[in-house]
Amino acid sequence: MPAPAGDHITLTVDGRPVSAPAGDFSLLTLLREHLGIREVKDGCSPQGQCGACTVLVDGAARVACVTPARRMAGRRITTLAGLDPARREAWADAFCATGASQCGFCTPGIILRLESLSRRSPGADPSGPLSAHLCRCTGWQTILEAARAVEEGAHVPGGSRDFAAAARRAAIEGGGSQVAGPHVACGEGGFADDSAPPDALVAVPAPDGGWALGETLAEARQAAGAAEGRRSTLRPTPPLEVPPGAWDRTLQTCWSEPAYLELDASWCAPPDPLATGGACGAKARSDAPAVARRLAEETGRPVRVLYSRPDATRLGPKRPPVAGGANADGSGRLAVARTPGIVEAVAAVAPGLEVIETDVAGPPTSAEPRAAGVLEALALLAGARGTADAVRLPGGGVATAHVGEVISVEVDCGHLLDEVVLRSYCIGAAHMAYSLVTSEAIATDDSGAVADLTVRSFGVVPASRTPPVDVRIVDSDGEPVNGSDAVFVAVAAATWLAMGCPPVWPTDRRS
Ligand code: FES
Ligand code: FES
Repeated sequence: MPAPAGDHITLTVDGRPVSAPAGDFSLLTLLREHLGIREVKDGCSPQGQCGACTVLVDGAARVACVTPARRMAGRRITTLAGLDPARREAWADAFCATGASQCGFCTPGIILRLESLSRRSPGADPSGPLSAHLCRCTGWQTILEAARAVEEGAHVPGGSRDFAAAARRAAIEGGGSQVAGPHVACGEGGFADDSAPPDALVAVPAPDGGWALGETLAEARQAAGAAEGRRSTLRPTPPLEVPPGAWDRTLQTCWSEPAYLELDASWCAPPDPLATGGACGAKARSDAPAVARRLAEETGRPVRVLYSRPDATRLGPKRPPVAGGANADGSGRLAVARTPGIVEAVAAVAPGLEVIETDVAGPPTSAEPRAAGVLEALALLAGARGTADAVRLPGGGVATAHVGEVISVEVDCGHLLDEVVLRSYCIGAAHMAYSLVTSEAIATDDSGAVADLTVRSFGVVPASRTPPVDVRIVDSDGEPVNGSDAVFVAVAAATWLAMGCPPVWPTDRRS
């Protein structure tokens, strides 16, 4: 709805005076949708919980998706694109040199938070302020290393590595094609929604299972009439019972959300849609590209498809819950929510476990999220044995882990290709495993519908509660294979053992 004539505000964005309608929309909408500044990301708007949309308002970090645009009259807004070029380069190079940016979706907001902290409280520990942010890839440690490097004035040039080799290692670890280089830290990693044509029709999921269309994102979301996502008061509960038997060890898990930060997005100006993959397999079956193509063909217009956080949480596949019992000799029974491919995946690593697929009311599941079923089976067997042995996954590397004050990891996965990237993915996998075992779960209601629709309700462990991770990489000339999935499994088993194998995951949920 256009604002009445004269009902405008003026503000400064990245050094330029801007006039905008004084409408009822957020600063994020103004920056991203009206001004086309794609360095500012949307991971959960309007929840204000992921930090991806963080910008500087008169020099202070603020999440743009919960900031009304009309209150910004006369204020000075700085996005990463408008940061002093020397500072922007220092941050980008430091993030690249330490491996602090994998997909890079969270990074522009994090850099602006760190920049604000550095100006106001030089030398302050960034762990607390970083709790305003979520990063699903890196596991925080490398971000803290990058912050320290910039704070100490140690400008590490980012352009001297073989970024083709780095991208190859990233693709092996993350799944799908990946890019590497300082530009990734600036939010320029090639996200599908960032390059959607400005004149594209926008399509969003509608509550009836169809798609709502609009000329703008706001119009499409209004047409969809979808309710805002909220967090429930329900407690996550394991939906499956442990199969009967006399077991040395039992384990029950809940539904858990892959929680990738970049939401499902695609756009299509026929014939071929563009979409972003990765997310350690969690977005492998997103319907966004096929829908963009179909709607573009039907309407004869470019179409941009975009999920909101509640859409991704309701519609995206979950890691299937399990309930199992096992003995030290490797025998046991594992009930798993019925999921295509899960029986074969578990049988390949744990032939002594009988897998019982079980129909259970709940959200869609997939065997695609990182080591789904495999991690739970191998952790259960490690718990039954009372020791975490080396993990070797089919077609992948070998990893061992020990969890104490520090998470110590050793991995052998062939030629390094790029040590920074490999270390980064191993640290990220260690964090993801620690977080899954101790904290991650979502509640469902009696009908099996997901009840927790906010990004903070998934239980991802924040920066300030993540143990340091020490990674030792075996230098080898072998064919490069995935190493971080084995690290993920090894750290999960070692974490559970370190906690004394409580029978239900998550073991220590605090949020
Ligand atoms: S998009 Fe604003 S905090 Fe997540
Ligand atoms: S690098 Fe942080 S979410 Fe991917």
